[in-house]
Amino acid sequence: MNLLNWHEEMALGIEDIDRQHYMFYEILGRLHEAAGFESSINVLKGLAGDLACYASLLFRGEENLIALTQDPNACSHLMEHAEFRHRVVELEDVNVLANRDSLRATAEELGDWLENHIAQFDRPLARRVRKNHEPITITRPVPSMELPWLRESVAS
Ligand SMILES: [Fe+2]
Repeated sequence: MNLLNWHEEMALGIEDIDRQHYMFYEILGRLHEAAGFESSINVLKGLAGDLACYASLLFRGEENLIALTQDPNACSHLMEHAEFRHRVVELEDVNVLANRDSLRATAEELGDWLENHIAQFDRPLARRVRKNHEPITITRPVPSMELPWLRESVAS
């Protein structure tokens, strides 16, 4: 499936990451469309640059979460990001941008890749992030439980 649009099922429940995935698809879709409409190389180069910036921003945020959650898939997840970054940066090459058909095909491949990546790596990471947050909420003492402790510490 050639995917160039973010859709609800891809949401991970982590607002920053979801917004960045959404923006990445927005730019990818524009790049795909611009390649089809014979836009100038400067327009394509600008979109490819935006795409590289968003990939960088997105992966930096995720990589912080990978470190924080001590993700057991960290190594393969980071390798996937590195490979994807490389592919996105390659798009900024004028010779790559000049071949419109190839550019459109690459944009479609990147869309498919990101959808698979979200399912295989980002969703398990999001589950770990939410799981790590639950004990903080669950173990927080309710106010009525704090009162005896407060009385004891005032009395002593
Ligand atoms: Fe990721």
